[in-house]
Amino acid sequence: MQTHSKVVLITGASSGIGRAAARHLAELGYRVYGTSRGACPDTGGVTMLQMDVTDADAVSAGIQTILAREGRLDVVVNNAGFGYGGAVEETSIDEARATFETNVFGVLRVCRAALPVMRAQGAGIIVNVSSIGGLMGMPFQGLYAASKFAVEGLTETLRMEVKAFGIDVVLLEPGDIRTDFTARRRTTAEAAASDIYREQYARTLDKIAADEQGGADPQVAAKTLARILASRRPRLRYTTGPVYQKLAVFVKRIVPHALFEWVLMQNFAMKR
Ligand SMILES: NC(=O)c1ccc[n+]([C@@H]2O[C@H](COP(=O)([O-])OP(=O)(O)OC[C@H]3O[C@@H](n4cnc5c(N)ncnc54)[C@H](OP(=O)(O)O)[C@@H]3O)[C@@H](O)[C@H]2O)c1
Repeated sequence: MQTHSKVVLITGASSGIGRAAARHLAELGYRVYGTSRGACPDTGGVTMLQMDVTDADAVSAGIQTILAREGRLDVVVNNAGFGYGGAVEETSIDEARATFETNVFGVLRVCRAALPVMRAQGAGIIVNVSSIGGLMGMPFQGLYAASKFAVEGLTETLRMEVKAFGIDVVLLEPGDIRTDFTARRRTTAEAAASDIYREQYARTLDKIAADEQGGADPQVAAKTLARILASRRPRLRYTTGPVYQKLAVFVKRIVPHALFEWVLMQNFAMKR
């Protein structure tokens, strides 16, 4: 077994990718702190902290707890996230705001709390968990995709700004991974009540849910994260998950958008 003494914080470590990643890094010898909004027992060598990324005081308290115990913070993995299902037209501003509160401003809060520590250390790495949905729009997940596109922009920028302080900033972009994300997806209130998109939404959501639940094991993403942390010069982007989805990211870059959109709409059983 490799041994490391680096101190890691992973937000949203109570299930799915965050839990698998936290356990995997703990097995590799990292000192791992995971977070959950609720009380969550320590498990698999991971110390769990109660922290809601939508609450700046809770974020700051969580990081202070780690510093008091370890005296340093080497790695932050901004993983906590969720998504609404529903057409863009049927997503309220409150629902959009709630999505951004966790998926974007949550990342920003944790970065703002961790960066002074990493700057003082002259070293650190932040891994922001985006999504393949941060690289391409996906029907009925518009605000989720928008939040992940925002994480992409924030990360590209932050990476340049903190390089001179010895800090790396990286994007981990999972494709479909089998987690509780599917079951936890909320449907927007208007989508649940209206008939406008109902049939198409149901058909597309079935396909999305089936793809997610037939997706890769979270351990695949955990291993990609471990590779990032072992790298001396981590790249900006690491996709992880089913091979055909990683291929889609590449294909999107090289084919005309009309063709890519046609394939995507076929895949999501969308009427034209
Ligand atoms: N599964 C996929 O196919 C997939 C694909 C692409 C990207 N992703 C991304 O991967 C990340 C992890 O998702 P997952 O699939 O592992 O989903 P998951 O099993 O539902 O886990 C989500 C985690 O986020 C935490 N969380 C949610 N809202 C939070 C908040 N406001 N503050 C703090 N923690 C919060 C949850 O913890 P508590 O509820 O205990 O607080 C949970 O531990 C997300 O950012 C997601 O967008 C997933």
